[in-house]
Amino acid sequence: LRDRQIAYRITGIASRRLGWIADPKGLSLPRGAGALDREAFPASRASNVRDWLRAAQADVLFEATSLNLDSGQPAIDHVRAALESAAHAITANKGTVVHAYQELSALAASQNRCFLFESTVMDGAPIFSLFDSLPALHLRGFRGILNSTTNVILSGMEQGLSFEQSLKHAQDIGIAETDPTHDVEGWDATVKVAALVIVLMDLAIPLSGIERKGISGLSAEQVRRARAEGTPYKLVCRAQRREDGVTAAVRPEKVPPGDPLASVSGTSSAIHFETDILPGLAITEINPSVETTAYGMLADFIRAVSAH
Ligand SMILES: NC(=O)c1ccc[n+]([C@@H]2O[C@H](COP(=O)([O-])OP(=O)(O)OC[C@H]3O[C@@H](n4cnc5c(N)ncnc54)[C@H](OP(=O)(O)O)[C@@H]3O)[C@@H](O)[C@H]2O)c1
Repeated sequence: LRDRQIAYRITGIASRRLGWIADPKGLSLPRGAGALDREAFPASRASNVRDWLRAAQADVLFEATSLNLDSGQPAIDHVRAALESAAHAITANKGTVVHAYQELSALAASQNRCFLFESTVMDGAPIFSLFDSLPALHLRGFRGILNSTTNVILSGMEQGLSFEQSLKHAQDIGIAETDPTHDVEGWDATVKVAALVIVLMDLAIPLSGIERKGISGLSAEQVRRARAEGTPYKLVCRAQRREDGVTAAVRPEKVPPGDPLASVSGTSSAIHFETDILPGLAITEINPSVETTAYGMLADFIRAVSAH
């Protein structure tokens, strides 16, 4: 950031547990990982996002609340409030894109601010920003593996674990949530497909418009046999443009030998775009971590402040 002559200070932090902490002179943060201690900060006077943004005199908001599949809230309200107060809004929350992309992008444009969300799909890999470097390209469709939890579970089952053991392993290494339904039943992947279709194909699609099947119906025996036959099961995400819109699906598929998706294992993910000029353009992200997600938000931050 110094090399790019970007100076920053953190003037606000908020969560349900911490409340709305703000100090325009800058907050000093403890170094390293771990939960922040409420007592380490000045008492917060703000009681809602708008007062908090004002108290913090925010130029940029980093929004990283948990995903609410049905409404995209409270992330949408947070991003809207930031843009209305003339701050850039950067989010890792897919709900903002799936439920309010049109509104929030129009608001950002009218305020001459950025609404950026690179981390929402494939963490820090350039997926949305890739298309900024490909002007006038027409995206016909895509196919990929976009959910780590299911990929880790399938890899574990191939190596001899049962579904339950493999899920437990994914939870132990911090990949899967305590309630893994969201990933296992394909919801996380479906939300990512929707985000890609909405932004990159410029087509409105509700989550209900995407065929969805998770991996809970696969037995360990089926998964191992498919791998032994050279056609491993993957939770494949796909979308294809049609004359009257788009067809999109998330479902376990046997991937043929030689298909690049067959070698994407564990926490890795991959996407293969089909475009008019570049018939096949693929990105593989190998073993991402939370730092990778944070990097996506940092890259958005640099893009936003460099452009304004
Ligand atoms: N983890 C990843 O690698 C990754 C990758 C790509 C995208 N994402 C997305 O990034 C977001 C954050 O992920 P995460 O894994 O850090 O989620 P998480 O573990 O659920 O943490 C969410 C954070 O948001 C706060 N929060 C939740 N609801 C809130 C509310 N209503 N108001 C204020 N604060 C709230 C929580 O703190 P309190 O409990 O104190 O409120 C917590 O600090 C999610 O939308 C996720 O889908 C994550």
